[in-house]
Amino acid sequence: MDERLERYVTELFAAEDPVLAAVLRRHADLQLPPIHISPDEGKLLYVLLRAAAATTVLELGALAGYSGIWIARALPPHGRLTTIERDPRHAALARQAFAEAGLAERVRLVEGAALDVLPTLAPGFDAVFVDADKEPLAQYFEWSMRLLRPGGLLLCDNAFFHGAAVDAADRSAQAEGVRAFNRLAAADPRLAATIVPVRDGLLVGVKIR
Ligand code: DHB
Ligand code: MG
Repeated sequence: MDERLERYVTELFAAEDPVLAAVLRRHADLQLPPIHISPDEGKLLYVLLRAAAATTVLELGALAGYSGIWIARALPPHGRLTTIERDPRHAALARQAFAEAGLAERVRLVEGAALDVLPTLAPGFDAVFVDADKEPLAQYFEWSMRLLRPGGLLLCDNAFFHGAAVDAADRSAQAEGVRAFNRLAAADPRLAATIVPVRDGLLVGVKIR
């Protein structure tokens, strides 16, 4: 999206509060990779989760907690975000962010590699947000479908992967992973899906059977 239009959407619909602003400032100060979602993408996640009346959400890749705050805020007080983070430094920052946002009770952060944690989780999630490493995305797709309830939302960040999704010359494991996830989502008869061109592309699907 044109940067001016993105700013227009953000200022109108996703203006940052002090808590989110502090999380992003800390993120930048610590020179963490600048790969967190954008405010307009956060608002889209929030709207979708409210539309689905989601109470239980699974996130793969907490990073420093920015997306987790948008997600957890969309849930009712008794709702629960389960978020998986492999990097202990990121996990500590995410915990701090959830506490500062008053959301600690609503979030369960599980430290570990997603492929180790996923087999320990009970199915039935109202939504899954995939935003972790890209190579294993085909496996993340299968796990997400297994853990989603019928009618649940499948959400996946970086569907375009900076344009690599359509760059046939990019044979990197990351680009292949992104393309594999998109292909699986498009072809799976259990899913109705598309890609919303927000930031780096947000794949949105609903498990229809
Ligand atoms: C990258 C970007 C992301 O948003 C992400 O979740 C993972 C990786 C990247 O640019 O490499
Ligand atoms: Mg991402």
